[in-house]
Amino acid sequence: MIVILNNKCNLSKTEFIKYQEELKTINTEHEVVLCPTYLNINNCQLETIKIGAQNVSCTDNGAYTGEISARDLKDSGVKYTIVGHSERRKYQNESNYDINEKIKRLLENDITPILCIGETEDERNNGLVEYIINKQLSESLRGLLEEKIKKIIIAYEPIWSIGTGLIPDIDDIINVNNFIKKLYPNNQIIYGGSANENNIQNLKSKAIDGYLLGGLSLKPEKIKEFLDQL
Ligand code: 13P
Repeated sequence: MIVILNNKCNLSKTEFIKYQEELKTINTEHEVVLCPTYLNINNCQLETIKIGAQNVSCTDNGAYTGEISARDLKDSGVKYTIVGHSERRKYQNESNYDINEKIKRLLENDITPILCIGETEDERNNGLVEYIINKQLSESLRGLLEEKIKKIIIAYEPIWSIGTGLIPDIDDIINVNNFIKKLYPNNQIIYGGSANENNIQNLKSKAIDGYLLGGLSLKPEKIKEFLDQL
């Protein structure tokens, strides 16, 4: 089971150093990946937890002010990178085309992309879940060969569930994951959206290969409780 910790835009350097000391006490058989802010990536000193990033540039190195390339992430020890998070789609207007380019840069640098997809509440209410998921996946993965696609972790994060405390029925998650599995049978599929130590028992299934945690990622004690229940 893989568990990704997405710190989002949280933890200053000073806060991160303290947080990291607490994370070091976590002992688990599960694979844990920490995605801190870009600035904290080079503050990471964790032996058992792998390092991820929350974003990457569409481009390689060059005259792209403010961007961070996959090549630089790799050189800083990054093994995984989140792409297509709904917050970036919303606040940075990131398109499936941008996400496709980012995935290509990551794969060129042997970094595992964690591709986030998911529907809004309106899309769910209008019966559009499969249409949206299919569109996000097919556009984000355009032009990639199966041998590349299978390296990508697909994170199903219903947007209405992120940070709201609302979680879908487990049967709904299983249906979506089975739909994705039919299209992409060789990919790991994980779930994200308000998952925590109190609801994890309701979110467990053979159809779920891991979890992407936002709010909970900031609470090392609770992460331990969460991991112990997997
Ligand atoms: P929450 O766990 O805070 O709902 O966030 C989920 C998420 O967006 C992880 O990427």
